[in-house]
Amino acid sequence: MRRYYRGYDPQRILSVAEMAYVARHRLPGFAWEYLQGGAEDESTLQCNRSAFQQYRLHSKTLVPNDPPILAGSLVGSASQLPLAIGPSGFNGMLWPNADVELARAATAHGVPFTLSTVANASLEQVRQQVPDADLWFQLYALKDPSLEQDLLQRALKAGCSTLVVTSDALVVGNREWDRRNFASPRQLTLANKLNVLTRPGWLWRVMVPAGLPTMGNLNAYLPDGERTALGAMQFIAEQLDTRLDWQRLAAIRANWPGKMILKGVLHPDDARMAISLGLDGVVVSNHGGRQLDGASSSLDALARIAPVVDGRISLLLDGGVRRGTDIIKALALGAEGVLLARTTLYGVAAYGGAGVDRVLTIVQEELGRSLNLMGCRGITSLDRRWLLAQGDSQ
Ligand SMILES: Cc1cc2nc3c(=O)[nH]c(=O)nc-3n(C[C@H](O)[C@H](O)[C@H](O)COP(=O)(O)O)c2cc1C
Repeated sequence: MRRYYRGYDPQRILSVAEMAYVARHRLPGFAWEYLQGGAEDESTLQCNRSAFQQYRLHSKTLVPNDPPILAGSLVGSASQLPLAIGPSGFNGMLWPNADVELARAATAHGVPFTLSTVANASLEQVRQQVPDADLWFQLYALKDPSLEQDLLQRALKAGCSTLVVTSDALVVGNREWDRRNFASPRQLTLANKLNVLTRPGWLWRVMVPAGLPTMGNLNAYLPDGERTALGAMQFIAEQLDTRLDWQRLAAIRANWPGKMILKGVLHPDDARMAISLGLDGVVVSNHGGRQLDGASSSLDALARIAPVVDGRISLLLDGGVRRGTDIIKALALGAEGVLLARTTLYGVAAYGGAGVDRVLTIVQEELGRSLNLMGCRGITSLDRRWLLAQGDSQ
């Protein structure tokens, strides 16, 4: 087992894996498993990572070593890196005010931040605390059309440029580790309660100031006295529109004047539908292996979907991106950019905003250094010829 540094200075962290190691040792077991775990046998979670190993980089030599171009366009807007921070719910369990810390670090690095419907900070709080953020909003479609409409209005008012509609969580995946940690809904088992005592730093930071954080975007729809984490979880369980289909998606499109992308696409037919509906992009994603175990890895799905999309809309990927070279492989297979989720969550769980900042710096440096080593001048030069896979004749 590799031994990693476990200290208090994020600047000494050298890789995302090392950041994950620190996060693991700072979080109680149940919070770590919430962040890290996948559904059932976690086969999709694992193949998200292993899929990147199928490809080798087809590098060239004797190319002058100018700083490679990392900036470009992401869903029609300028971005300093070919990535955005993707949506994740309940970040406040990892670090106080984690959504704002993530948004701040993303903005400092010139990349978008996506706020989840089930975030702890509200749209209004994030916008107020990070006025310059390129804010994207992730929507879980709701049964009550007036509530959904209100959420969209608030997202618009908060200046969200892009709506990310998530389609792969109409039923919550079977995350056995999560279920095992709770004796009854949201009641930790005794073993987990005792385990929490082994993380006094986390208790002090996260629990002592205000207890489990509430869901900022949903508070407005909860009756007085039910604006608690538990109240919000019950609300979303009842309100989640499990009948979301293409017709409903078209109605959401008609209601949203900004850019809109669909997250959770793994089949080329669905990418074709997204194009015909006039969406601005799709995110090839299996929800980080947390939903359908046995689903394709995101990278394999990307290889099938990219020829169908053929540059007509933005093509993003998430799932298992941990290194700059992973981003290079996704871009070479046709993605315009990637979303990071666990990668930046490790940073916020370990050191708050300073940890996210460090993760983004590491990924940026890895991306630039690897492009240099490949003899590639920038992200827009990447295509399939920069990769080698078994069976390739190049
Ligand atoms: C802790 C956690 C919470 C998440 N919450 C959401 C969410 O609220 N909405 C959503 O669309 N995706 C959510 N996701 C999925 C991520 O947006 C993303 O698809 C996935 O994590 C990518 O895989 P990776 O983190 O291994 O790179 C969540 C993922 C994690 C790890």
